[in-house]
Amino acid sequence: MIGKLNHVAIAVPDIADASSTYKNILGAEVSGQIEQPEHGVKIVFIKLPNTKIELISPLNDNSPIRKFLEKNPKGGIHHLCYEVECINLAIQKLSENNYKILEPGIPKIGAHGKPIIFLHPSNFNGTLIELQQK
Ligand code: CO
Repeated sequence: MIGKLNHVAIAVPDIADASSTYKNILGAEVSGQIEQPEHGVKIVFIKLPNTKIELISPLNDNSPIRKFLEKNPKGGIHHLCYEVECINLAIQKLSENNYKILEPGIPKIGAHGKPIIFLHPSNFNGTLIELQQK
């Protein structure tokens, strides 16, 4: 049921600086800063030929990214996002096999306007996984 790697999210302490590195040093196609108050983050999308990178940075004090940056002051890979055909089928399969879904219930609408869920790192070799409906 797993499809493409939709994006890799990297938490960064200074989103303007990180964005400039990708744009001016690596020559990547980079979006402007997009604020997402409902997720407590600001994001810059970087378009690569085969996937996307999302630079994410805290928007406020209770941002979920703030704690991550306290542990990783220089930033670090925060999560990977895989596409799935049907998010509800994925939820069913994961639940039946006792995989932990963060904030279980109805899938949230993610940064791309599509339903998403997050899966606990303890079930995925220490990596936070996002599933996004295709
Ligand atoms: Co994501």
